[in-house]
Amino acid sequence: MSLIAERLLRIKPSPTIFIANKAMELKAAGRNVIGLAQGEPDFDTPDNIKEAAKRAIDKGQTKYTLVDGTIELKQAVCAKFKRENGLTYETKQISVGTGGKQVLYNALTATVNPGDEVIVPAPYWVSYWDIVLLCEGTPVSVVCPQNNGFKLRPEDLEAAITPKTKWLILNSPSNPTGSAYTRDELKAIGEVLVRHPQVWVLADDMYEHLVYDDFTFTSLAQVEPRLYDRTLTLNGVSKAYCMTGWRIGYGGGPVELIKAMAALQSQSTTNPSSISQAAAVEALNGPQDFIPRNNAVFKLRRDLVVDMLNRCVGLHCPTPEGAFYVYPSCAGTIGKRTPQGKKIGNDTDFCAYLLDAEGVAVVPGVAFGLSPHFRISYATSNEELSEACTRIQRACAALR
Ligand SMILES: Cc1ncc(COP(=O)(O)O)c(C=O)c1O
Repeated sequence: MSLIAERLLRIKPSPTIFIANKAMELKAAGRNVIGLAQGEPDFDTPDNIKEAAKRAIDKGQTKYTLVDGTIELKQAVCAKFKRENGLTYETKQISVGTGGKQVLYNALTATVNPGDEVIVPAPYWVSYWDIVLLCEGTPVSVVCPQNNGFKLRPEDLEAAITPKTKWLILNSPSNPTGSAYTRDELKAIGEVLVRHPQVWVLADDMYEHLVYDDFTFTSLAQVEPRLYDRTLTLNGVSKAYCMTGWRIGYGGGPVELIKAMAALQSQSTTNPSSISQAAAVEALNGPQDFIPRNNAVFKLRRDLVVDMLNRCVGLHCPTPEGAFYVYPSCAGTIGKRTPQGKKIGNDTDFCAYLLDAEGVAVVPGVAFGLSPHFRISYATSNEELSEACTRIQRACAALR
């Protein structure tokens, strides 16, 4: 009899973490590797947030808190939703977890029965797919190719909905593509969803603040209030506040769902770190001026990377609206051979070649459900990005 439960055999470890770890191992072994796989800002957590954490420790805020978040943090989250998204939630409609990932995990685990379908537009953040599998649900991929801006079209959503559809997961700006939905695009998707009252919506707004070129972010329940009663609006402090290690994410939604998520959390991790919660209160209530400053840097990096990748033979890289990822196509390299004579059959081969030949670690599109592409995280210094793109240019030019 297998030690490992069957449900676990359905999933794989996160491929992005796998590649990031591989890059770290190669680095530790002395190779000159540039890791562009990890999805986290290279900026440090702002000082006022760190100070709030230190104060929390000194004041003895080091005990258990309410399972799904302190009242203070829930109030800060309610104020944030009101101020930035025009969404009204009461504190009992807020769930705080150990990262956005736990909030997502709780929501799906609390609601998905075996055989329930969850629509996941592809390319998708890898965790959506595997968490649905872990819940014994059926992830349903709707392919959103580059010529649709990697975005879900209303007609494709309509065609994917069945009586078994429980959730749609909509992520904007997107990991891995960086593309973001305009208000009109969300409105059109909302129109479809209004016609299917059994479908819940998980709006993953984790990259809300990371948008460029005057793009205006909007959230689904804000654009289509008729969906408010069946939407979980997911967000967190990891990305915009440079707090990936602090592990605080949150969601706003209907009380019944939030309660069920709290019950689950009470039997797994209990509350997120009390100190991180105090820091998150300061993040949400404190000065926000570092966000546009960081975004100005991200935008320059995005433009640098898009420009340099579009000079690579066989690659094509669209300019995304947000997040800190680009998702170029490597279709023009497929079928070519490396200087060692190895054929590039797919995006995994291409990424393996980049790592072997030039020490550049990126994640193949197959991990995100849409090939032949790869994802670059440009949340690293201009020097590293420029060097990495020079290496990619050289690797592409060497293919025959
Ligand atoms: C689209 C998306 N949603 C949610 C998360 C979860 O973030 P965290 O658990 O670090 O708060 C991530 C992290 O990579 C993400 O890319």
